[in-house]
Amino acid sequence: MKRIKLWDKEFEISLPFEEIQLAVRNMAVKMKSDLEGKEPLFICILNGAFIFASDLMRELELPDAEITFLKIASYSGMSSNGVSKELIGLNETISGRTVVILEDIIDSGQTVAGVIEQILKKGAKEVKVATLLFKPGALKADIVIDYFGIIIQNDFVVGYGLDYNRRGRNLKDIYTLVN
Ligand code: IMP
Ligand code: MG
Repeated sequence: MKRIKLWDKEFEISLPFEEIQLAVRNMAVKMKSDLEGKEPLFICILNGAFIFASDLMRELELPDAEITFLKIASYSGMSSNGVSKELIGLNETISGRTVVILEDIIDSGQTVAGVIEQILKKGAKEVKVATLLFKPGALKADIVIDYFGIIIQNDFVVGYGLDYNRRGRNLKDIYTLVN
């Protein structure tokens, strides 16, 4: 098994790129049929979702789709502190639109719950949530996840956009912390 070291921690490959790519393609197919004709606005939550969003958007055959980016800070080290802050606001008109939030991973769900609340306040017609990875065992917030790629255990993962203290985002595959 391929292992890597980031700072003081060791990680082992758990989701090879091919598996991720397949999950992303399946999400894109489902989104195409659900969102056709709705002129959806996709909101990529930075930093973690940048790679997922770029792969997903290129698989999505929806000529009327738009994408924008929102930066949130809510995670430091290896546990969510539950506080989310909007750092870069949205300039787009949200009112009356179908919005799809793109996340790398949903853990407690608090980050996404905060974003949903803000988007609804701005008058969105509907807000959907799409996440590449989902840890059902950690979910605390009362949210509906419309699209997810891969369900994982309650483990800490890095790669494909996800970091451990800023490192590991550029790994092509996803790795799990070795205890
Ligand atoms: P939540 O608010 O607890 O759902 O946390 C979501 C955010 O925490 C994600 O957008 C990630 O940035 C980060 N996060 C949660 N779990 C992991 C993980 O296993 N590895 C890296 N980042 C994570
Ligand atoms: Mg994130």
